[in-house]
Amino acid sequence: MSSVKVRSNVGAFALITDTCLMHTTPSRPWWRHGVIYQVYIRSFADGNGDGTGDVAGIRSRLRYLRDLGVDAIWINPWYPSPLNDGGYDVADYRNINPEFGTLEEANGLFSEAAELGIRVLVDLVPNHTSSDHRWFQEATHSPPGSPERERYLFLPGKGPSGEHPPTNWDSVFGGSAWTRVPDGEWYLHLFDPTQPDLNWANPAIRAEFRDVLRFWLDRGASGFRVDVAHSLDKDLTWPDLGDDEESHSTLEGTHPHWDRTGVHEIIREWRAVLDEYPDSMMVAEAWVANWDRLQAYLRPDEYHQSFNFDFLEQPWDAEAMRACVEESLEAAGSVGSIPTWVLSNHDVVRHATRYALPQDVNAKEWLLDGDRSLLDEAQGLRRARAAALLMLALPGNAYLYQGEELGLPEAYDLPVEVLDDPVWARSAHTRKGRDGCRVPIPWSTTGPSLGFGTDGAWLPQPPVYAEYAASAQDDVAGSTLELYRAALHLRKEHLVADEQLAWLDLGEDVVAFRRGSGVVCVVNFGDDPVALPDGEVLVASHDLYGARLPGDSAVWILES
Ligand code: GLC
Ligand code: CA
Repeated sequence: MSSVKVRSNVGAFALITDTCLMHTTPSRPWWRHGVIYQVYIRSFADGNGDGTGDVAGIRSRLRYLRDLGVDAIWINPWYPSPLNDGGYDVADYRNINPEFGTLEEANGLFSEAAELGIRVLVDLVPNHTSSDHRWFQEATHSPPGSPERERYLFLPGKGPSGEHPPTNWDSVFGGSAWTRVPDGEWYLHLFDPTQPDLNWANPAIRAEFRDVLRFWLDRGASGFRVDVAHSLDKDLTWPDLGDDEESHSTLEGTHPHWDRTGVHEIIREWRAVLDEYPDSMMVAEAWVANWDRLQAYLRPDEYHQSFNFDFLEQPWDAEAMRACVEESLEAAGSVGSIPTWVLSNHDVVRHATRYALPQDVNAKEWLLDGDRSLLDEAQGLRRARAAALLMLALPGNAYLYQGEELGLPEAYDLPVEVLDDPVWARSAHTRKGRDGCRVPIPWSTTGPSLGFGTDGAWLPQPPVYAEYAASAQDDVAGSTLELYRAALHLRKEHLVADEQLAWLDLGEDVVAFRRGSGVVCVVNFGDDPVALPDGEVLVASHDLYGARLPGDSAVWILES
């Protein structure tokens, strides 16, 4: 594709705005422009054939990741855990789950990845531990008021014999956020009952986590993705919530557990630790009310980055996407940061499937019992490929979720007997949960688990996954894998030297902008083909119609 030239009559088109960001010096840190690949370890590659992904599996695929062109990987929790919530229930923050491997193997991974130029981010889970964690065991075996209980959030119940939970708070996964222990006290868990919330007002917890950060940084981690980063500060006067406040943070930071102002003090403590390790970074998973609230997390002495979930939530619509990009660049830029771009992760329906559904259908709800005939998979894949070129052309850094480089759709028809996500049971079977995006990766077209391992897979792969296998796309012109490879390599060559972006007006259904290097990215969200500016086509998500870009497609052009 690289030598194709397009000529059209759209030579000089209007420049709408010029968004110039700061930090264009060569000393920009890697994370301002890096591409980070999310490895959901249970489902990436199984090195020992027991059906579960592991550290050995990741090591065996590092060359694939190097060839893909990623700068770093973020590995979902790999600690000892009963895996009630896929490992977000940590029983020991300083070890590796024996199902996944050993600490020694993890050390091997850090050094091999470094040799290949790939950094490793570890998932930090500070809001809660597993109920299997030694601390929680000690807490439940110690009396009310003991220092062991002070590590968690225990309270007496309400009612004559304390039979009612201390507050009316709900767990994110459904049901009450409180569970009672045999001596009558209740403990808080914003997620599953096997995920008791830690007491961050306790200095011992703070000291412990600073030490955990050092533990992984000393081993070679380049930083952390921080789980539920907006929940650590809790209002210990324990107010009840109004009907419509349950899951929402407030704009004033006055919600009793989401996005409270006190969380920033904790973040600053962590940042001070990271600042001792050159080139390290931490990225927040913070689902807060809006950019005004998110900005606070990105101040120079706090997180380096925060996931921009807004981008992921946009409908397939040019105006909405452009507005989101503009707002993200402005908001992050105003505190000296830069946005992250993300289309999928282990908590959401894969974007190839989201984009395959009509805009008014909520993909998560559709999973349960939605009309399957609404699905247009060809459209979904086509839009997903275009979205990838949009995301990868923007200033800032991008997060890829394993399998998106293959165009993988959601495994939306998993039989309910195999569902593993606690959401399914906790929601009384009204929410199907997140297993459909966590199905093991198809590496080859045949074999008991399509090359994931030498035997089965912990979640069944739908037969259609064979068509998306990496081996079926490797070296195949026009495949999604080759599209990602090309885009990541071109990005390094043309798009990371500066953070300039100038919007171009190519019509209301089109998002188009020029980067500082002269590369123009054009994304056509509409149905009608769009005339392209003159230049050399670097990469396109779909065959062009001469000098026109068809609908649901994107192209990068080096202007002549
Ligand atoms: C985050 C994780 C999610 C997990 C939850 C509780 O949202 O991404 O997978 O269930 O936190 O730890
Ligand atoms: Ca395994």
